[in-house]
Amino acid sequence: MSSLTLLISSLSFWDVLILFGTFIILYITRFYYSYFTRETPFPGPLPLPLIGNIIQLNLSGDLHNWALENQAKYGDIWEVYIGSDRQLWLARADLVENILTASKDNKYFIRNPPSSGLDIMGMSSNGLIFNRNRERWHFYRKMFAQTLSTIKFSRQATEWVQQAFANMEGYFMELGFDKKVFNFADWMPRFTADMTFRIAMDKHACTMASLYNTHAPSKPAPYPQEVVNEANEFITAFKKFTSTISYFLLTPEIIRTKTPTGRSQTKEHLDNLNWLHKSLIKIIQQRRKEIEKINDNSQLKSDFLTLMITVNTPKDMTQKRGDGTIEEPLTDEDIRASIMEMLLGGIDTLIVNRELNKQTSNLTCFIVYLVITHPEVKARLQQELDTVLGTDLSRPIKYEDLNKLVYTDAVIKETGRLMPATSINLRVAEEDDVIGGYPIKKGQQIIISSLGVQHNSKHWANPKEFNPDRFLEPNNHNIDRYSLEIFGGGMRLCPGRQLAMTEMKTIAALIFRKFDPELATPDTVPKIKYESMNQCYELMLRFKPRKA
Ligand code: HEM
Repeated sequence: MSSLTLLISSLSFWDVLILFGTFIILYITRFYYSYFTRETPFPGPLPLPLIGNIIQLNLSGDLHNWALENQAKYGDIWEVYIGSDRQLWLARADLVENILTASKDNKYFIRNPPSSGLDIMGMSSNGLIFNRNRERWHFYRKMFAQTLSTIKFSRQATEWVQQAFANMEGYFMELGFDKKVFNFADWMPRFTADMTFRIAMDKHACTMASLYNTHAPSKPAPYPQEVVNEANEFITAFKKFTSTISYFLLTPEIIRTKTPTGRSQTKEHLDNLNWLHKSLIKIIQQRRKEIEKINDNSQLKSDFLTLMITVNTPKDMTQKRGDGTIEEPLTDEDIRASIMEMLLGGIDTLIVNRELNKQTSNLTCFIVYLVITHPEVKARLQQELDTVLGTDLSRPIKYEDLNKLVYTDAVIKETGRLMPATSINLRVAEEDDVIGGYPIKKGQQIIISSLGVQHNSKHWANPKEFNPDRFLEPNNHNIDRYSLEIFGGGMRLCPGRQLAMTEMKTIAALIFRKFDPELATPDTVPKIKYESMNQCYELMLRFKPRKA
């Protein structure tokens, strides 16, 4: 027997207890010694060893309340600990300037610390959202900009939003939602999923049709069952993929690789991911063949997939404005990664496990609620719609009309300010820096509280008031830079913002031009789950047609 084994076997129960207690006391002493002597301390709640401030977060109820409470208590810059990781929270425009500046010297390109899980998924060096490789990220970013800024694409998107809305409107009327109360928040994620699949790939996701069919209507949805089934299979795999991101981001490597449950879950996630990749590659290859057969370029659709396939070929429809660094057509793999990003784009990647959940869909619920509860805003909005679009409700909305919808634009921005779809934005300091006079160490995780900035009375008079006039001339000249972060900012600014605004303006116009949605009862409020994204899961309405 070794001397160590002899020593251990000679210990009594009390010896072990005393040793264990001493270890705990030493650990706690060391933890608080490091905490109280840390470099550049910021105000913030006192963390507990190992778990940090998780208890305070849970006591606050959700991330949204916690951020506002901390801001009220500690000011516009504070720190919290999640486990033993220190996060610095910022909630004032001048504090986020270095992070959201478009300057090439921006030291905050990276969103999250290195993650072996994202490496396995291939997302650390492919696509946009989690890409940490500047060169690869720049490649995808350029392709996104080139395709999404194509005018034909914007026109096509405006048309497809209207087609998706016409489907939804048909279902609503068929189900009697003009008189019957229903949950609008059940429909919006499906509406945006259908719309996004069409805009991304000219494919039908049929998620509204599936929901409509569950109401056992007398007239079933107008899609063959095999189309609905095929779409359902893809949507289910895509939902699983979004939970795969959470799984690989949040589950420690040791659990993923060394425990039987972890290993089987990892396999399940990776099998699904492979299936999704293969399905997308099949779609891309099929579309390539279809495109090859088309000789007349004007017959080409301008969905994102077609634009990506034809980039840098004689059929290229994009507005080339690049730096000439990418001259070759894109590979199937590059297109596959871009389509996944496009589908993921508006979707919150951390909480989607439950439902497909698009930011566009949540913001639309918030717009509808705020407009209904502010009759003077609704009157001005409808007046603008009548003036710009005319009173002939069958006249399609053209992309060019959208630029004239100035008040509608202001309503959307004010909704995004007051009830943002995403309350936080993440970055990591790549180099030492100084923020608000405080030194920031390389590697520091920064959380921008978009909600905190957008509700900060230093930037916004009466910040809790819904007032779209803030975004109209001449008031909009007084808006502080970086004080509105609906689409983030800096190098990582949302590349889909123009598309998102096109979609949202069209949807708002379609709803309020023809309908006067009514709350189920005067005190109905939207039910919202506040996480990294604010998810509206209940908004009970009647969809009453507007009186002439
Ligand atoms: C109302 C709808 C939307 C909102 C509120 C929104 C908001 C945001 C925000 C806050 C970010 C983070 C920006 C930053 O880190 O500074 C972001 C990133 C991103 N969004 Fe959107 N977004 C919306 C719609 C879309 C759409 C429709 C697409 C697809 C074309 C899209 C694609 C992306 C992508 C790919 C990124 C990652 C960009 C990068 O890391 O380089 N978003 N979005």
